[in-house]
Amino acid sequence: MDENTFARAKEYVANIFKDDSSGHDIYHTLRVHDLAVTISEIEGGDRDIIRMAALLHDVDDRKLFGENGFLNARIFMDSEGICVEDQLYICDIIDQISFKGKDSVVPSTLEGKIVQDADRMDAIGAVGIARAFAYGGSKGRAMHIPGDAHKDNMGADEYFRNEGTSVNHFYEKLLLLKDMMNTPTAKRMAEVRHEYMVGFLDEFMSEWDGRR
Ligand code: ADP
Ligand code: NI
Repeated sequence: MDENTFARAKEYVANIFKDDSSGHDIYHTLRVHDLAVTISEIEGGDRDIIRMAALLHDVDDRKLFGENGFLNARIFMDSEGICVEDQLYICDIIDQISFKGKDSVVPSTLEGKIVQDADRMDAIGAVGIARAFAYGGSKGRAMHIPGDAHKDNMGADEYFRNEGTSVNHFYEKLLLLKDMMNTPTAKRMAEVRHEYMVGFLDEFMSEWDGRR
């Protein structure tokens, strides 16, 4: 895969997400790509596979496209003449990385572990906070409802049906991600982002209650 293939992949993804306001805009994909490259500089793995899987990881998102057999990813890879073996390897990564509550899986390959870490990294920290509220807003959900308890231990179906507040989403997903990172490099990066979210929630609750 050469640089032109990656440039065309970015254009392809930008076009698919051009009207999206649910946190899946092209910049999410580009951040995941850059994070995956940063992690792989220390953790290794096949750089081309990692980059292509990162760029295509959301183009067949179940919430947006249903179960479509990775159609969008395969259309792009076919058009670039990427061999069937690499296509299957990349589709396996895309299949394994998504967060499904307690049904989430650890990817079977190093490349999958790195792309999953990068995707999860972009859901936490300052960017993660912004995405959670942008997503909640796009679904018409409340930021926070006092007394509205979050749900623990959701399975995949319950997680995808869940319509809770954005603050509850921190307890249902975002604060769990630090301990779900696969690689030592991502674990280290996640610590900083995690502490930032903990501080944010503390400040948010103090302001909400009129204490600060
Ligand atoms: P990805 O597939 O990129 O891992 P998701 O599709 O699960 O991410 O979600 C996109 C963004 O929206 C993420 O940052 C995620 O944390 C956020 N998000 C998902 N569900 C909710 C929710 N119920 N409330 C607030 N934010 C959410
Ligand atoms: Ni993603």
